[in-house]
Amino acid sequence: MTMKVLSIASEMAPLIKTGGLADVVGALPAALAPHGVELTTFLPGYPAVLKAIGKAKAVHTWDDLLGAPARLLAGKSGGHPLLVLDAPRYFARPGGPYGDAAGHDWLDNWHRFAAFGRAGADVAAGAVAGQAFTLVHAHDWQAAMALAYLRFASGGGASPSVMTIHNMAFQGHYGADVFPALALPAEAFALDGVEYHGGVGFLKAGLEAASAITTVSPTYAREIRSPAFGMGLDGLIRSRGGRVSGIVNGIDPAHWNPATDAALAARYSVRTPGQRRANKRAIEAEFGLERDEGPLFVVISRLTWQKGIDVLLEVLDHLAGIGGRLAVLGAGDAMLEGGLHAAAARHPGRIGVRTGYDEALSHRMLGGGDAILVPSRFEPCGLTQLYGLAYGCVPVVSRTGGLADTVIDANFAALAAGVATGLQFDGVSYPALAEALTRTVALYGQQDAWRSVQRAGMKSDFSWGRSGKAYADLYTSLTGTT
Ligand code: ADP
Ligand code: GLC
Repeated sequence: MTMKVLSIASEMAPLIKTGGLADVVGALPAALAPHGVELTTFLPGYPAVLKAIGKAKAVHTWDDLLGAPARLLAGKSGGHPLLVLDAPRYFARPGGPYGDAAGHDWLDNWHRFAAFGRAGADVAAGAVAGQAFTLVHAHDWQAAMALAYLRFASGGGASPSVMTIHNMAFQGHYGADVFPALALPAEAFALDGVEYHGGVGFLKAGLEAASAITTVSPTYAREIRSPAFGMGLDGLIRSRGGRVSGIVNGIDPAHWNPATDAALAARYSVRTPGQRRANKRAIEAEFGLERDEGPLFVVISRLTWQKGIDVLLEVLDHLAGIGGRLAVLGAGDAMLEGGLHAAAARHPGRIGVRTGYDEALSHRMLGGGDAILVPSRFEPCGLTQLYGLAYGCVPVVSRTGGLADTVIDANFAALAAGVATGLQFDGVSYPALAEALTRTVALYGQQDAWRSVQRAGMKSDFSWGRSGKAYADLYTSLTGTT
């Protein structure tokens, strides 16, 4: 029998994306289907989402959803069912899902995502005729209030639920003054409810209400038990101990496959890696880089402190000095963008920078770069190192979170055994990163060893197979169905 699960999230690729959350939410329906689970994804009706679903049927209406009217639209994405909250007061605005075009967060985000959660709880509790769900799966703080509403204010009784943390750094923490407008019973403002440091914590409320908590890698699931990574919620995570697990993200092999990727100048496989050369030449030309025999590093990233881009800036003179070249694609912090452009001006032909968001270019860089650098201070899972593995663009990563779980360091023993897939370094600091770059350039100089690392990465399995089953098993354990 098919188990019906409501997956609640604020992003879903290809409809709306600011980061890896969208990729994962977009991939889950297909990952779960082989395991007898039908995932219906519930999304906010941003303009891009409404446009993508076109003319859709309204299956429910709210006259007053925390102060504004709303409709629920039914549609499909990639053949999988979608429910969209069409609430113009909350979602009909230009800019991104969380802020204006200049990157400033909307001041009423608490209201927008409380309304989204309230509606999600109604849908989960059976408000829509013909739509019954056995379990609710909420992603990140924007969806978390659905679980709090189900717990404190739903007529339908509490369904089993999973709360997935994609990034502990974003918690949805607001002042106590927003509490009355949430329309929750007074008892919800409690230590084991929505109250958080005297205010209201959306993610915290979801974590308290969930039957199980997951995050996107086993190492991050351990790390968030400590103050450094738990960011104020480590005590809660420790107290929920056995209910917390890590399931590593997969990637969609249909979308991330160098043998079929239409964005590449030349397609290739593990048997024909030599064809990567044409892609490398194309990236050199595109970024105005000199041609030489040294490795071409790439970075594809949000430009933020989490991603260690400030430390990357410090190490760029070293990178150019040891014969490396670098192509960067990213957007984010204006200071970091400025620092990258300054480094490119200091090292013409050695460092090239493209700011902005460009999906096709990201594919071309993975197909042509020799190594992808991911110097994150923390990384719940990370997807770009997985793309790097699939494309033979060797990941050079800090040993944290999902980066630690998915890359096998090219130390002496792993190289000898032929299992190394990349390079890892400890701690995001100038000396650690500089040494990792030096090691990478040296390994690249031993072409046989380099090719063996490339091949081992390309052969490793990061499809959703195992992780899809892990989610299905978790759902089953919570519902008692088989
Ligand atoms: P996070 O979600 O923390 O940003 P992930 O590695 O999980 O990190 O996911 C980032 C996703 O966004 C990947 O699919 C990556 O390729 C993509 N991405 C990041 N920056 C850019 C950019 N400037 N252009 C195109 N894609 C990007
Ligand atoms: C978050 C994390 C990233 C993870 C992604 C998808 O954005 O920062 O590490 O891969 O979510 O789970």
